[in-house]
Amino acid sequence: MKKKSPNNKTSLNNLMLLVQGHSAFQLLWAGVQLKVFDLLNEKPNRLSFRSIAENIGLEKIPCKILLDGLLTLKLITRNKKTGALNNVKQLEKYLISKSPVNWIGVLGWQKHIVYPGVIDFVDSLKKNKNIGLRQFPGKGKTLYERLIFQPALEKIFQDGMQSLSDSSNYFLIKQLQLKQFKHLLDFGGGNGTNAISIAKKNPHLKITVFDMKSICERAKTNINKNNLSRRIDTLNGNMFTTKLPKSIDCVLYSHIVTIWSPEKNIQLFKHIYNSLPTGGQIYVFSTLSNDNGIGPITSVVGSVYFQAVATGEAMIYTKKEVADFLKKGGFQRVKIIKLPLDHTLCIGIKK
Ligand SMILES: C[S@@+](CC[C@H](N)C(=O)[O-])C[C@H]1O[C@@H](n2cnc3c(N)ncnc32)[C@H](O)[C@@H]1O
Repeated sequence: MKKKSPNNKTSLNNLMLLVQGHSAFQLLWAGVQLKVFDLLNEKPNRLSFRSIAENIGLEKIPCKILLDGLLTLKLITRNKKTGALNNVKQLEKYLISKSPVNWIGVLGWQKHIVYPGVIDFVDSLKKNKNIGLRQFPGKGKTLYERLIFQPALEKIFQDGMQSLSDSSNYFLIKQLQLKQFKHLLDFGGGNGTNAISIAKKNPHLKITVFDMKSICERAKTNINKNNLSRRIDTLNGNMFTTKLPKSIDCVLYSHIVTIWSPEKNIQLFKHIYNSLPTGGQIYVFSTLSNDNGIGPITSVVGSVYFQAVATGEAMIYTKKEVADFLKKGGFQRVKIIKLPLDHTLCIGIKK
């Protein structure tokens, strides 16, 4: 019989993984929820299959399903000689609860918000609308407005954003040159995670977190916890109608560009441009796609959620498209800086 080429096998495996992607996610989620990754981090090279079953309180078959699954998905490894299980070193920091850059919040957001919502992807494509929003009762045409009616889900969402920002804003903050600025507006700033990190790195800077009312309350709690209430305040309102503070000279637009249509982004960029002094800057920070639209995976797959759930009018744009929105919004100079974790920083400068 003719031998299958390795490429054929890879693409078939890839297809299998897609066919049962939801179950693969559940294995990962269970590994986090049942603290398998935490346990392996605490006791590396020491735990056998049986000791893990005892530690996490699972019977033999359930534990075999879970651990064989995690092994096959290459989320954990087994020492061939001793049989001891271990985390995969380069993934561990994203999966253990004590890591400051873990993705556990991101996984919670996928589980409770993205999964139920993207079920309606096909209809959302056909109707060019976020049909998945039907899973989240309440008023308003965007997920953000609907979450106001469900505080528990709103928290899951904000924890997801915090987790995303905690892992990516290290790279953002390293790039931001804020010495010449006095007042930064964090536009759609969420629970204040980015503002707090920026404030700690830039002790001269005043920051305002601008978001919806209930989110500003969450931001205030975090700002107070970090003893930063003298330097960070909040502004609640609507991005499209609220007047921006006169004193701002730079704006962070983090994980916002992918929620709005090109026209709305340009409208918001014009609004921000007109509120900034000459020399003012905007920092658009987000996962973005390659300019040919192909990859990276995070970006192309992420667009499904924006179409089916979040707003139904947007996607993860390419770097070139975002640069174009900024220019159409008035910013005369645009710099693009590619960062790790598939993130990009686009800086718009008002001349
Ligand atoms: C995707 S989250 C980004 C949060 C944060 N900037 C970050 O990077 O983690 C989008 C934020 O925009 C806020 N938002 C959405 N629509 C808004 C509106 N019309 N006015 C004010 N804030 C809005 C949401 O409440 C949410 O906190």
